[in-house]
Amino acid sequence: MNTSFAFVDPFADTLELPVSGEIEAPRPMWERDQLVEHLGAHYQIVRELGRGGMGVVFLARDIALHRLVAIKVLRQEFAGSVEHRERFRREARMTARLSHPNIVPLHSFGEMDDFVYIVMKYVHGASLAERMRREKKLSAGEVRRILRDLALALDSAHRDGVVHRDLKAENILLEGPSGHAMLTDFGVALLRSLDPVRADSSHAFGTPHYMSPEQATGDLDIDGRSDIYSLGVLGFYMLTGSLPFDGSTFEALAARHIVDAPPSLEGAGPAGLCAIIERCLAKNRDDRFRTGEELAEALDALEVRKRWFSKHAARSSWLFGGRAAIALAMLAGLARAAARWTTI
Ligand SMILES: Nc1ncnc2c1ncn2[C@@H]1O[C@H](COP(=O)(O)OP(=O)(O)O)[C@@H](O)[C@H]1O
Ligand SMILES: [Mg+2]
Repeated sequence: MNTSFAFVDPFADTLELPVSGEIEAPRPMWERDQLVEHLGAHYQIVRELGRGGMGVVFLARDIALHRLVAIKVLRQEFAGSVEHRERFRREARMTARLSHPNIVPLHSFGEMDDFVYIVMKYVHGASLAERMRREKKLSAGEVRRILRDLALALDSAHRDGVVHRDLKAENILLEGPSGHAMLTDFGVALLRSLDPVRADSSHAFGTPHYMSPEQATGDLDIDGRSDIYSLGVLGFYMLTGSLPFDGSTFEALAARHIVDAPPSLEGAGPAGLCAIIERCLAKNRDDRFRTGEELAEALDALEVRKRWFSKHAARSSWLFGGRAAIALAMLAGLARAAARWTTI
């Protein structure tokens, strides 16, 4: 658990803020200033939560509803760009279509001149990227659970025609002590039914380390299986602590995704889990899991198999233990008989 989150009570229902020590001293920052200027009557800004390529995300308190929310503001350097504002609008509309326990829900969206923002559920926890920075790698059980959560999130998004295209540790939030995984940042997602298939809408989006071979080649017909590949990269990363491919330039990295076989996962975790991750990483999308649901089922089957083995192992050890006890009792009986015989 990230202790820097501990001082905020996500369920606080008081308006008696600021409480000493809860709100960090405001630093001059365009995004924060805009937020206060335009939304200060409705939201009390607590602190910055994080920032990515597009936006700065703040923790804020919804004054009327007495709840904490996360507000993402388009960064100052993009605020003047019509294209970036449109992308932000698309992100909001895309997220608004989706409803799943493993996808961060959107509350509202607004724009006032250059100031564009998205209000969403605040996920009280840490991003997977922060978690990986702290722990380097995760246990096989946790990798399986997080992959399953995300496979279900993707399955739901894909059924709604949305391909995320930017799956990476920074865009995954782990909520509370259970570490329930939630997918966020549909900033470069593709709406298959509505987006015109254009080179600029499907090429070079996403983060090169997680890019599927078809994304890397600029294939115009990207589908959900591209996200399944990126999930494989994520699984590889969580299990081993390093990404399957690295390269000094975008082109070098793209070429490796297209041509190179990923390093073997042998010994990095249980064979079943490694085989699932390797299947996600297949170069040819026909060789991957077809859907998030199919992937989640394969991950569930691992758990069922594990439980079956541990149950039967327990039973066989009980049986073995029982047999050993009988054998010992027989030996003791024989010894007693032998002792009696020698004393006659
Ligand atoms: N709903 C949220 N709750 C808590 N933290 C969040 C939330 N959304 C984003 N963050 C934090 O802000 C960072 C950037 O958010 P993201 O939506 O990925 O921005 P960008 O589109 O600029 O990449 C995330 O990596 C995470 O640390
Ligand atoms: Mg992001």
